[in-house]
Amino acid sequence: MTASSLSFRLAVLFVIAGMAMGIGMAASQDHSIMPAHAHLNLLGWVSLFLFGIYYERRPALDRSRLALIQVLAWSVGTALMAVAVAAVHLGYTAFDPVAAVSTLIVLAAMVLFAYFVFKPSRDIASSPTPHMTPAE
Ligand code: HEM
Repeated sequence: MTASSLSFRLAVLFVIAGMAMGIGMAASQDHSIMPAHAHLNLLGWVSLFLFGIYYERRPALDRSRLALIQVLAWSVGTALMAVAVAAVHLGYTAFDPVAAVSTLIVLAAMVLFAYFVFKPSRDIASSPTPHMTPAE
C-alpha cells in the first residue's frame, strides 16, 4: 500500500471517531474531553489528509517505506494522544505519561516529514521514478 492511500484511509477512520466523540459531547452536554476531540480531528483528519495529498503528488516518495513509517508513527501517536488526553481530562491522571510519550511520537513523525520536505524525494525513494521524454 502507498503512504497516501494509508493516510486517506486512516484519516477517514479518525474523523468518524472524532465526529462521534463530538456528538457524544454535545448530547451529554459534557465538553470535558474537548481537547481530545480537537486533537483527534486536527491531527488525525486534517493533518493526515494533508500528508496524503503531499505524498500522492510525489509518486516515488509515496511508494517508499520511510513514508509509510511516517504515516504509521503519526497515526499511532495521534490515537494514543486522543485516548490519553481524554483520560487525563476525565480525571485519570495516570495517563499523563502516555500523553507525554504520544506527543514525542507525533513530533518525531513531523520531523521525519520535515526531512521529506527539505530533501528531494529521489534521495529518499528506493526505486527511481520513470521519466517520459516527449517525442520530437
Ligand atoms: C459531528 C461532528 C462534530 C461535532 C458534533 C463536534 C462537536 C464539538 C463540541 C461539542 C465541541 C466543544 C465546544 C466547546 O466546548 O466550546 C467541539 C470543539 C471543537 N471541535 Fe468539534 N465537532 C465535530 C467535528 C469536528 C471536526 C471535523 C473538527 C476539525 C476538523 C472539529 C474541531 C474542533 C475543535 C478545534 C474544537 C475546539 C474549539 C475550541 O477550542 O473552542 N470538530 N466540537
